Amino acid sequence: MVMTMVDLIGETPLVQLKLRDLSKASVYAKLEMYNPFGMKDRVAKQIILDAKRTGLLKDGDPIIESSSGTLALGIALVGSYLGHEVHIITDPRIDSLTHTKLRALGANIHVVEEMGMTGGWQQARLNYLYQMLEDRPDAFWPQQYENPQNPLSYRHLADGVMKEVGQVDILVGSVGSGGSLCGTAETLKKRNADLKVVAVDAAGSSIFFQNDKPRRLQSGLGNSLQPKNVNYSVIDEVHWLNDEEAFNWTLELSRHEKIFAGNSSGSVYAVANWLSTQVDSSKRIVCIFPDRGDRYYNTFYQEDFFNMHHLASSQLNLQPAEVSSIQDTEKWSYLNFDKWKCSNEKALIY
Ligand SMILES: Cc1ncc(COP(=O)(O)O)c(C=O)c1O
Repeated sequence: MVMTMVDLIGETPLVQLKLRDLSKASVYAKLEMYNPFGMKDRVAKQIILDAKRTGLLKDGDPIIESSSGTLALGIALVGSYLGHEVHIITDPRIDSLTHTKLRALGANIHVVEEMGMTGGWQQARLNYLYQMLEDRPDAFWPQQYENPQNPLSYRHLADGVMKEVGQVDILVGSVGSGGSLCGTAETLKKRNADLKVVAVDAAGSSIFFQNDKPRRLQSGLGNSLQPKNVNYSVIDEVHWLNDEEAFNWTLELSRHEKIFAGNSSGSVYAVANWLSTQVDSSKRIVCIFPDRGDRYYNTFYQEDFFNMHHLASSQLNLQPAEVSSIQDTEKWSYLNFDKWKCSNEKALIY
């Protein structure tokens, strides 16, 4: 079947991982980096097509979004393919490869020059976006953190996985907006109510109520706020990895599995690997790898980067420590979130 570049989005492979000697259960990885740009191409496609269908986005209207990563590329691809002017608001931290790709796709890139007095770069970008929306009232803003079309865009991923693997026992995924893990879990749970959902976050991210440490170096996963698209009710276990652990596990993913990926995939790999040693051989674990390693070629894929940030390379932490409550963690740790939720019901607004 001949496809367009938009049809192609979402047709990604699922591979079985080799793992280590101690592993018992099988682990399958959904390689989302095999989308034209990355996992968020799915979200851009779903949000834009839905907005066109419902009339929120009319032919020729501009699309404006604040992003410096995978969503920006998805929007630039789908939006401009369908004839919309695309405006991406970003800040000086954008990597040169993403900037080049966005320019090549024909997106208009707006780089804010100064941080806000409060809320850092994120707030500065939003202030710029609000101003643009005032000037362009016809513009559409996708809003990935709260748009329900973000998690819904993963129904197709979950259906594909069930077709290939049959029953999934454990799902492991990183969390930034919450869309990929929670959206996939919501669909998989309809088939297997006992599905265990394992969230992977960065130490110093506030998604699961740690204190925000904005200086963390990991990108993609983690957040300084609790996005509406995180559905806490479907999550059973949470893992936090520090920068050094995330980067070293990403290097191990390319060395051992031959998958050249970004750091969120590396952290997910660490967790899936460990889980495969904890459960029996009949269990099927599925994990989601969001993006490829290209945009990190001059950061953690270089030894200099480790030296510059005083991180040790080639140190693989194999064993997370269990914590019994939410606390700031320094090393790879995990929490039985299900149990924690039962005793802290009032702390969570689902
Ligand atoms: C590379 C990468 N990994 C992981 C995530 C987290 O995914 P989600 O926003 O679906 O929670 C993102 C989100 O932007 C990402 O760009």
